[in-house]
Amino acid sequence: MSQKTFTVTNNATGQSEEFPVHEGTHGPDVVDIRTLYQKMGVFTYDPGFKSTASCESSITFIDGEEGTLLYRGYPIEQLAEKSNFLEVSYLIMYGELPTKAQYDHFVEMITHHSMVHESFRDFIKGFRPDAHPMSVMVGMVGAMSAFYHDSLDVTNPEHQEISAHRLIAKMPTIAAMAHKHTKGQPFVYPLNKLGYAENFLHMMYSVPAEDYEVDPLHARALDLILILHAEHEQNASTSTVRLAGSSGANPFAAASAGIGCLWGPAHGGANEAVLVMLEEIGDPKRIDEFVARAKDKEDPFRLMGFGHRVYKNYDPRAKIIRKMAIEIINKTEGNDPLLDIAMKLEEIALTDEYFVEKKLYPNVDFYSGIIYKALGIPTDMFTVIFAMGRMAGWMAQWDEMISDPKRVIGRPRQNYIGAARRNYMQMDKR
Ligand code: SDX
Repeated sequence: MSQKTFTVTNNATGQSEEFPVHEGTHGPDVVDIRTLYQKMGVFTYDPGFKSTASCESSITFIDGEEGTLLYRGYPIEQLAEKSNFLEVSYLIMYGELPTKAQYDHFVEMITHHSMVHESFRDFIKGFRPDAHPMSVMVGMVGAMSAFYHDSLDVTNPEHQEISAHRLIAKMPTIAAMAHKHTKGQPFVYPLNKLGYAENFLHMMYSVPAEDYEVDPLHARALDLILILHAEHEQNASTSTVRLAGSSGANPFAAASAGIGCLWGPAHGGANEAVLVMLEEIGDPKRIDEFVARAKDKEDPFRLMGFGHRVYKNYDPRAKIIRKMAIEIINKTEGNDPLLDIAMKLEEIALTDEYFVEKKLYPNVDFYSGIIYKALGIPTDMFTVIFAMGRMAGWMAQWDEMISDPKRVIGRPRQNYIGAARRNYMQMDKR
């Protein structure tokens, strides 16, 4: 079959050029415009990258209109029901579901890299006790590059793999240390006999003064949340990791950049912002007031946990988390006024013409905060947990980028609208 092409015509000059079209496995075709500037002397302009593919990837597919999410071709609903976070992390990183031997080896690797260098116990003490845990995580993940001089050659596949394992393995330990630091409680070492999510809850909540048993329901709920947050194609923080890594920066520095980007309330920081919003609403009777504000162009307030750059249908992850939030609340406290407000807010937003017309549905962050709260996780740790899950995706995407023989440093162009060329003027003449 002949190569599909797009013709671009400059109506001012009559110049026409053909550009190749690439077809993916799923999703829209892409027009390869890499030679546009060279052939036609113009740039494209797409500030939010709403119509721009930055790379080719085999990891995740999202159909925003359908509300579909596939990790390496597997529907998120099946993985949420049948898998666990470390198996999903293996799938995302290596492209296939593991055999038992492969799974056991991967779990062994992650488990035996869960401790951090003892110097981190001193390093973290440099942060104020009231430091936001995300600021601690940005600092500590970046600082990991100061400890692994034996594996910083980004072109070495073994170094790539061990760095990914170390980052996935140490995120729960660093996250729990960030929490303990704010509480002024002693840091708790990981226990290798515990599962990944179970170990995190153990490091978060146990104290030397007494025994602590992790509630299996809580561990399962957290493991599911980590699966749902593990990967999401070229979102802002993943694109940050790719761009940072494209300069050849080490994976710890690139991951730290991704954590910084995830922190924003428009992205991973939304789960924390949802809880703050629900607490601010405080009473179902005030929901209409906040919905009106969200619709008011003069008011910067947005309904946190609603809307998505890609999903113009219900975020499939939100559906799964919603079901689990109800199950957790019913099995723990029986009712949570914030869940009542969330359900009422969702009901109103899904019927309100503003949200319907703009296709603003609940996203993954809308219900996750309810579950974190039911698990006793403090609000300032919500995005930290998002980062814990997403590290698997960041590492898979970083590895895909760094292993690409056609890799080039990312360097966007611009449309310059500043001052025209002019000469320096002495101060006494200004
Ligand atoms: C995540 O990219 C990913 O994959 C991200 C993520 C992942 O897994 O990595 O899925 C995780 O970040 C989920 C999103 C969490 N963020 C929030 O919940 C914050 C609230 N949502 C918005 O800030 C917003 O919806 C975004 C940032 C998520 C998406 O914004 P877009 O795609 O740039 O859309 P937009 O800002 O252009 O909005 C389109 C219209 C605008 O109105 P008009 O200018 O056309 O009149 O919808 C309005 C917006 O004002 N709008 C909202 C709204 N979100 C969009 N109005 C009220 N409340 C909202 N939440």
